[in-house]
Amino acid sequence: MMNYSIIQIPSISSETGCLFVLEKQERLPFEIKRVYYITNVKNDAQRGNHAHKQLKQLMICLGGSCDIVLDNGVSRTTITLDMPGKILYIQPCLWREIKNFTENATLMVFASEEYDENDYIRDYEEFKKYVGQGII
Ligand code: TYD
Repeated sequence: MMNYSIIQIPSISSETGCLFVLEKQERLPFEIKRVYYITNVKNDAQRGNHAHKQLKQLMICLGGSCDIVLDNGVSRTTITLDMPGKILYIQPCLWREIKNFTENATLMVFASEEYDENDYIRDYEEFKKYVGQGII
């Protein structure tokens, strides 16, 4: 099972622009303890390259676009974040690689916990073992 979902947010639009709201359980599935954003990423750079044991995250590309590759230890899928109303909800134990950032891309992340390096798995083989697929 791939533990992610896409949350589509309708925009409140007028001739002066578009407004997006995140509130209530369906759009905010956890209490936010941390917000960070990533910008100025070179197009050929790859970020992520880790999994989290407990952390839940919501990712939105506020401008431009980027690709999020998700891997559960068995299969992979790629989600393109290219609209401010498209939100990726990543649950724990998914390896992620983030790439193909356009020049103007800003990736915003809402996280369920404060930063904790002990929650990271940064080695892919270790991740496979952790999710039980590396055992022959
Ligand atoms: P990392 O999570 O590996 O970034 P990405 O997944 O975007 O490639 O973090 C990069 C560095 O920033 C690492 O040294 C840890 C630090 N960091 C913090 O100090 N606090 C945070 O909330 C985050 C997300 C990272």
